[in-house]
Amino acid sequence: MSQPLIITIDGPAGAGKSTLGELLARRLGYLYFDTGVMYRALAWAALQQALDLDDALALENLARWIRIEVVPPTLEDGRQYTVLADGEDVTWAIRTNEVDRTVSRVARYSAVRAEMIRQQREIGRRGRVVMVGRDIGSIVMPDAPLKIYLDASIDARAQRRSEELRSRGQPYSLERVRDDLARRDELDRHVMLPADDALILLSDNISPDEEVDWILERIRELQNVGSDAT
Ligand code: DC
Repeated sequence: MSQPLIITIDGPAGAGKSTLGELLARRLGYLYFDTGVMYRALAWAALQQALDLDDALALENLARWIRIEVVPPTLEDGRQYTVLADGEDVTWAIRTNEVDRTVSRVARYSAVRAEMIRQQREIGRRGRVVMVGRDIGSIVMPDAPLKIYLDASIDARAQRRSEELRSRGQPYSLERVRDDLARRDELDRHVMLPADDALILLSDNISPDEEVDWILERIRELQNVGSDAT
């Protein structure tokens, strides 16, 4: 088998998917695509427009008409990419605790998800991409040749997320971050579907570089299996 052109990374909030996704994409020379930003941009816009988060139709319309773009970083301020919502730079605005608390409510509607998935598939099908999310291996790109499910204990995830928030000037207590994560796990549960053929990777005790090495090793194995078969 040649190098897999689509690699999916799914898993719960705070498991380290974005750090891993970016590193892996850089090592392979692939595009890094974090699908969570699309749901976050929607949640941000819904808050801006003071939409009723129980109004499925209003959220579906928003999903259909808002133009979400993810482009290479336009500023050097630590961002991995720039996110534009109808042309407005929302890269940091979608990372607030308020959006964290809202996003699962927006992402729960099937019509909203259908529209996001349609757009995600368009990008995925171009290939040479590491796609990160919750349902990428199972729903969005079920034919992807390499699927990773990155998991970690809630304590490790809370620690990581609270350091991330602190570095952005949002110092919340570890307990609060842990509680928010537990709540989000519960809300995300129905969209978090590890693919049957995903490889499970636990990030508690290994560094992102070690995770990348582990995945590159799996890629080499896949390639060997493919060449043995030919
Ligand atoms: O990965 P993240 O924390 O940035 O994701 C934000 C939210 O978006 C998360 O609560 C669940 C949702 N999400 C989703 O439903 N499906 C995806 N593929 C990615 C994210």
